[in-house]
Amino acid sequence: MISSTFNFSSTAIWKTLAFSTLILIVLIIFSNQPNSLQTDIIHVATNQSFLPLNTTNISHLVFGLVGSTKAWRYRKSYIESWWRPNTTRGYLYLDRTPTDDLLPWSQNSPPFRISDDNSKLLVETKHVAPIMVRMVHAVIEVFREEREGVRWYVMGDDDSIFFVDNLVDELSKYDHTKYIYIGGHSESIISNQVYSYDMGFGGAGLILSYPLAKMVQQNIEDCFRRYPYLNSADLILMTCVNDFGVSVTPHQGLHQMDIRGDASGFLSAHPRVPLLSLHHFDHIDPIFHSMDRFESTNHLMKAANVDQPRLIQQTICYNRNLNWSFSVSWGYSVHIYEKLIPRSILKIPLETFKPWIQKAKPPLYIFNTRTLSNDPCATPHVFSFESIKNINDYESKIITSYTRFGSRGLPTCGFANNHSVDSVSRINVVSPNRKPNQNGKTECCDVLEIDDMGVAKLNLRDCMNDELIA
Ligand SMILES: *[C@@H]1O[C@H](CO)[C@@H](O)[C@H](O)[C@H]1NC(C)=O
Ligand SMILES: *[C@@H]1O[C@H](CO)[C@@H](O)[C@H](O)[C@H]1NC(C)=O
Ligand SMILES: *[C@@H]1O[C@H](CO)[C@@H](O)[C@H](O)[C@H]1NC(C)=O
Ligand SMILES: *[C@@H]1O[C@H](CO)[C@@H](O)[C@H](O)[C@H]1NC(C)=O
Ligand SMILES: *[C@@H]1O[C@H](CO)[C@@H](O)[C@H](O)[C@H]1NC(C)=O
Ligand SMILES: *[C@@H]1O[C@H](CO)[C@@H](O)[C@H](O)[C@H]1NC(C)=O
Repeated sequence: MISSTFNFSSTAIWKTLAFSTLILIVLIIFSNQPNSLQTDIIHVATNQSFLPLNTTNISHLVFGLVGSTKAWRYRKSYIESWWRPNTTRGYLYLDRTPTDDLLPWSQNSPPFRISDDNSKLLVETKHVAPIMVRMVHAVIEVFREEREGVRWYVMGDDDSIFFVDNLVDELSKYDHTKYIYIGGHSESIISNQVYSYDMGFGGAGLILSYPLAKMVQQNIEDCFRRYPYLNSADLILMTCVNDFGVSVTPHQGLHQMDIRGDASGFLSAHPRVPLLSLHHFDHIDPIFHSMDRFESTNHLMKAANVDQPRLIQQTICYNRNLNWSFSVSWGYSVHIYEKLIPRSILKIPLETFKPWIQKAKPPLYIFNTRTLSNDPCATPHVFSFESIKNINDYESKIITSYTRFGSRGLPTCGFANNHSVDSVSRINVVSPNRKPNQNGKTECCDVLEIDDMGVAKLNLRDCMNDELIA
């Protein structure tokens, strides 16, 4: 684990900390108090390979996105929502030369390349799935083009939405000099059964360390020859990588999104890991109900661009006077229940979505779900992310606002209860401008006030050492 001791992977944080750390080092060197911090920091100061400057940053990642010229006009907005021109490295691999309507090529898109002509290879191997060969072959093509200073190759589809800051942070926790293949499972049990639980599903992003990508480059054509009958790109890659003695490292932040319809239940109860990718936005409803798919994607990015580590992290708290439970999915939604419900239940996604394979039989998903009902005590009032701003009091903070998405259309929970959430129209969530979950827990929150105008104010903070969320 290179530089895990000093994992200041966000350059912004590093820049602001650099100066004060320097002073700290000087202070500690000149103080005669021996302590473990002192030895650690001096170690940093004297050992180049521990310097945060050498931790993984955005320039160490190269993206290889595979798309088609025909679909690009519809898919382009998904990629442009997260692509950072002249900062993110990588290419979009197209099947044929862009048509006139795509030219001049957008400066906000990744530069494109036309995929290699594999026809000779296809004839020789009698491979059953030429498109899949093209997709896997993109690993070689991106490796051929970009090698200087590369630590990770991130392969995706033309509708894969990546959260780049979180990718950099997460990848800096792995040793890029080893053979590593990181991927995500399908949400759908049957898809994992049909393909493999050992496979990274392609649209969620397949991440290969440099040595592994090199290995793929040297051996993939042989692998096509060995397995001409494999008819899916991610399965071909898994099979070849397995032959090298490497198995998948699953990551819960990578999402193939093999679900359909309303994904809000899924996105409102994310596991406690940074969000790395989302996929299949053409197959789910727009994630913000008042917007179309592209507006929704860009809207989520407004929060992602301010505080990516906190994005859709779930925080739960209670108002004991009113018997209300609050569940925040930062930058996406807030749910309020008119009942005190334990965290272990609220963590479970509401099954607002439909299975990927329509006729599949339960159990459908690789995670637990709560079924929807008309029970007013089990049905949340839903508020959607509306806006975000930075504030600077004595401490830098971020406020996200969430507004009501329609009426729940149900009576109040409980016979004698006259505390209906119907009067609440807006929720303002204040969060600190620093990374959440650093102590291994989720954050905690406090319901600060609910005013006469129907505005509720919540504050997110680190949980105290012995604090119970109950
Ligand atoms: C620097 O750290 C590396 C581990 O990354 C270690 O192998 C090396 O011995 C260290 N060098 C010094 C001078 O401490
Ligand atoms: C940074 O790390 C790489 C290995 O990942 C090493 O080869 C290089 O020497 C390091 N650079 C510095 C300045 O320590
Ligand atoms: C990323 O780290 C490398 C050292 O490994 C450094 O040369 C480069 O300037 C850094 N890039 C950014 C964008 O921070
Ligand atoms: C990216 O760099 C190119 C050439 O260096 C420049 O022409 C272009 O304006 C830059 N694009 C953006 C969006 O900064
Ligand atoms: C809150 O719930 C408890 C236990 O169900 C109940 O005894 C109490 O009256 C409730 N309070 C309010 C304000 O509804
Ligand atoms: C709410 O309930 C309390 C006790 O259950 C009662 O005293 C109060 O009058 C009720 N308020 C309204 C507006 O119904």
